[in-house]
Amino acid sequence: MQGWIVPPPKEPSKSKDEFKKEREEKVKWLIRHGYIRSSPIKEAMLKVQREDFIPEQYRDYSYLEVPLPLPGEEATISCPHSYPLFYEHLGLDRSHKFLEVGLGSGYGAALASEVVGPDGLVVSIEIDPLTFNFAKKNLEKAGYRDIILVRGDGGFGYPEKAPYDRICITAACNMIPPPLIDQLTTGGKLIAPIKEYGIQNLVLFEKGEEFLRRTVICEVLYVSLRGGFATG
Ligand SMILES: C[S@@+](CC[C@H](N)C(=O)[O-])C[C@H]1O[C@@H](n2cnc3c(N)ncnc32)[C@H](O)[C@@H]1O
Repeated sequence: MQGWIVPPPKEPSKSKDEFKKEREEKVKWLIRHGYIRSSPIKEAMLKVQREDFIPEQYRDYSYLEVPLPLPGEEATISCPHSYPLFYEHLGLDRSHKFLEVGLGSGYGAALASEVVGPDGLVVSIEIDPLTFNFAKKNLEKAGYRDIILVRGDGGFGYPEKAPYDRICITAACNMIPPPLIDQLTTGGKLIAPIKEYGIQNLVLFEKGEEFLRRTVICEVLYVSLRGGFATG
């Protein structure tokens, strides 16, 4: 897999209507390519305005299939297709208690909040203070006040609201941090980019009574997990 080429920074010039059209086109494309399969995820992708989660100098590229830089060390907002890729495989749905490790821009947390709805809960953790503040402002401006935002090392999870039905790690790790497995319900699912054999695979884990079932989805490319469970 190749690295990503970030487009050059520029003054934003697109209108809200242009972004809306691009968002609708993107959702059609994601359905056509099999990334979006369920109605809650489709509705969330149509509703959340991705451009509101992107730094001004990259805003015009909001719906391009590239990750874009965020304030902070190595932080990026992932490509549009990666959100339904993670959330459809997780089976994220209404009423779920969802934990995200790697808040980034706040876009993924906003989408998850739309999917789980008022009976669910979203907790998201970010290790980088600059990135955390950027996401917090984005989410406040966009009106997402029920998401629990935590500044800290997501490898340790957030036991205060555990157990979680679904967990998503948005940074690449060599192994799943054990506290996250402990904080997953039996029957729950966790998805993460795992570094193995010199590449990264997106892997889905399903927690049984006595075992963790592992399914490789596809090759991906993510920034590395930082903090206490960081590994090379
Ligand atoms: C690919 S970005 C996340 C994209 C994000 N989900 C979004 O919607 O914009 C990965 C994020 O994980 C964060 N991160 C890395 N290690 C972390 C850790 N141990 N705990 C919490 N966040 C971490 C990075 O700072 C970065 O913001």
